[in-house]
Amino acid sequence: MSKTTTDSDRNGFVTGYIENRDKIELLEKLNWLSQHSSTSCQIRSCPNPLLSLKQDQTMLTDAERQELEAEMHLFPHKINARIDALQIVQRHRGWISDEALQDIADFLEISPDEVDSVATFYNLIFRRPVGDHIIRVCDSVTCWIMGLEQISAKLSERLDVKFGQTTADNRFTLLPIQCLGTCDHAPALMIDEELYRDLTPEQIEGILQPYLQQPAMAKREGL
Ligand code: FES
Repeated sequence: MSKTTTDSDRNGFVTGYIENRDKIELLEKLNWLSQHSSTSCQIRSCPNPLLSLKQDQTMLTDAERQELEAEMHLFPHKINARIDALQIVQRHRGWISDEALQDIADFLEISPDEVDSVATFYNLIFRRPVGDHIIRVCDSVTCWIMGLEQISAKLSERLDVKFGQTTADNRFTLLPIQCLGTCDHAPALMIDEELYRDLTPEQIEGILQPYLQQPAMAKREGL
């Protein structure tokens, strides 16, 4: 029996695996593991070879990378492109997972915390999974005065969700938002990029129908 197989047997879980793998690479990984007991490292440049296997699966896609690179000339420094990068990746993946955050950080050559500080500040960036369509209901003062409560109640009842929740069919996420800038046409809401103004509860069903009739979105890449 070769020396390589003997090393693998000592490490149990790779037995039977060794014959089809690059033996030197695998021994390097086992060596590394014997010296590092923690697997919680979140740094992409971490030399942990087993983590690097997982990380390879969450790299930016070609489409994401192309879009990001096309934006870079607009910014004097890569760090200035954080919002655009978050928007691009969110458009592809639906939300910004920890892995997505790391991918962006790697691309911009900054730390994940520097990306997260922007991601958590902007309410148009989602750090949790959301539905196919985002309903943002203005909850600022003019809309309150003009009947927001009835609009919110109608939406909650029709979709069977509260603010901050996503419908069971994953079609809508209902969120409050501060003034949409159209106070003279309050109450107002947005669905994705579409603005709806001068609302009455009776209009809600008609507003939702086109979205309800769309087929559910295909599972986004990267999720
Ligand atoms: S307060 Fe609702 S749009 Fe301004």
